[in-house]
Amino acid sequence: FIEDEDHLKKIAAYKVVEYVESGMVLGLGPGSTAKHVVDRIGELLRQGKLKDIDGIPTSKKTHEQALSLGIPLSDLNSHPVVDLAIDGADEVDPYLNLVKGRGGSLLREKMVEGACKKFVVIVDESKLVNYTGGSGLAMPVKVIQFCWKFTASRLQNLFQESGCVAKLRTLGEKAEPYVTDNGNYIIDLYFKQSIGDLKAASDSILQIAGVVEHGMFIDMATTVIVAGELGLNVKNK
Ligand code: A5P
Repeated sequence: FIEDEDHLKKIAAYKVVEYVESGMVLGLGPGSTAKHVVDRIGELLRQGKLKDIDGIPTSKKTHEQALSLGIPLSDLNSHPVVDLAIDGADEVDPYLNLVKGRGGSLLREKMVEGACKKFVVIVDESKLVNYTGGSGLAMPVKVIQFCWKFTASRLQNLFQESGCVAKLRTLGEKAEPYVTDNGNYIIDLYFKQSIGDLKAASDSILQIAGVVEHGMFIDMATTVIVAGELGLNVKNK
């Protein structure tokens, strides 16, 4: 099954690279789907089919991957406008709102993807949901380490009516806190019911001091490419 899923991710990744043109500034996402995109861009550069690309990686791991493939790298300081960002997602709703960050990155992603003219998301069909923030799976929120329990309980209280449970993301048998690329912790929110209006939920989360950013990407994706057993489905905003 995992092989099948990876195969679908690869199909979506190869399709999305058709949107890439020589001379572009590109936001490069992490995750197992976007990894195929970065590999493919590296290959096209090596073959001379793409030229003059500036990549802006949204995670340390993607930075390493792009470097090892010889993709020229840049950042938002030098290129405040990004032509195209390509990334995966954990959930996609019918309005192309996303949940991201289950892989650990979301802050650099939101900065880069918020600065791009076109944001193309690639997913396999398992990521499609009827509404974000109510699928029963984690909705990640990045918080600073200082008094994280206090921040977690404020987050949980905020969504009491949706049966929210807030859990610190941990790693390994010792359950050490997972530390992000920017030195933050992640609180995963689990909801029993929909959180309703996403924009209102986003605003209330961001008002809590101690929160750095959350994984709802509202109204940001311009295109979503969904790979399924029956082929590719391209959804445009
Ligand atoms: C990284 O934290 C995420 O935002 C990823 O883009 C997301 O988790 C999708 O990853 P996969 O492509 O590995 O499913």
